Amino acid sequence: MSDRNGETAAGSAIRLDHVVKRYPGAERAAVDDVTLAVEPGEFIVLLGPSGCGKTTLLKMINRIHEPTGGSIHIDDIEIHDLPASALRRRIGYVIQQTGLFPHIRVEDNVATVPSLLKWDKSRIRRRVRELLELVGLPPDQYARRYPMQLSGGEQQRVGLARALAAEPTTMLMDEPFGALDAITRTRLQSELRRIHRQLGQTILFVTHDIDEAVRLADRIVVLREGRVVQFASPLEIVTAPADSFVADLVGADDVLRRMSLIPVASAAQGGLTGRSSDLEEISGSAFLRDAIGQMVETGADRLAVVDEDGRPVSELSLDDIHDAVGEHEPAADPTVSAGDQ
Ligand SMILES: Nc1ncnc2c1ncn2[C@@H]1O[C@H](COP(=O)(O)OP(=O)(O)OP(=O)(O)O)[C@@H](O)[C@H]1O
Ligand SMILES: [Mg+2]
Repeated sequence: MSDRNGETAAGSAIRLDHVVKRYPGAERAAVDDVTLAVEPGEFIVLLGPSGCGKTTLLKMINRIHEPTGGSIHIDDIEIHDLPASALRRRIGYVIQQTGLFPHIRVEDNVATVPSLLKWDKSRIRRRVRELLELVGLPPDQYARRYPMQLSGGEQQRVGLARALAAEPTTMLMDEPFGALDAITRTRLQSELRRIHRQLGQTILFVTHDIDEAVRLADRIVVLREGRVVQFASPLEIVTAPADSFVADLVGADDVLRRMSLIPVASAAQGGLTGRSSDLEEISGSAFLRDAIGQMVETGADRLAVVDEDGRPVSELSLDDIHDAVGEHEPAADPTVSAGDQ
């Protein structure tokens, strides 16, 4: 995607085929016949209740756990055909409790994998400084500190820098922002999006938090009891949940959430009229929540929708918004009984 000093930084394609994980003695499989194909550079969020197999899935991809069945390919190479050092280089892993080494300075924490890979010292130093800059920790202030001398959010940034150190093409992130306050969390989410845009790795990101999922994901995998119940864009998951389990999980009836996800262009039903040129304008790629905001601010109940070049293409009325957020009521799912949630 991007090119950092001419290096290719595109992400890996990841393919899971009928992957099963059954822990010894367990009654049911923790991961139960999961098949998924992730495109290079996609930001994928794994979403599902506690115990549905999210962590197990990540740990099979970097071979902390062995699958009981099925196969996993990274860029068309079966992961067992990759030497451990190549796998470590390709995959960065961030866990919830950062896993920083407490008695080691920030710079050496970040240098963990490059040191294992025996990069030369000056290359490691350069890389560490570059990464600390990237995650918003000026190296002159932070490189020599110990993890204990950092806030939770700063530690999380160091964890991210460490995972990025060997220029992985895939990042596995297991609830990396789970322990942070809402403001720090939102800030780190937008920084992660920025870093992802810049570096273009494939990211598999685990969370319980639907708002985080919607904000970050290109596509969301919804898991239930080890199985994939839906794999789709945030918009599709929220407006067309596969069943009532997904609808409940993502709060599909949350009108505000839907308004944040539905683009103006897809809701506008009105054709251009003689009045269009007198109306306030809104971009077709804005979201309904923006449109409502603009209507409330200006007291108008219609807006002219404009395309990327600023040309009016349609009109959006309050009724259109009403229709758009109201029309996808989640269908009752006859396969899920009331006691089965
Ligand atoms: N090492 C293990 N040995 C035996 N069973 C395990 C092991 N790790 C996880 N499990 C079981 O496998 C299932 C899936 O666990 P996993 O940790 O993958 O869930 P999760 O979706 O990450 O949950 P959470 O959101 O709570 O982190 C659970 O039933 C769990 O008890
Ligand atoms: Mg977990």
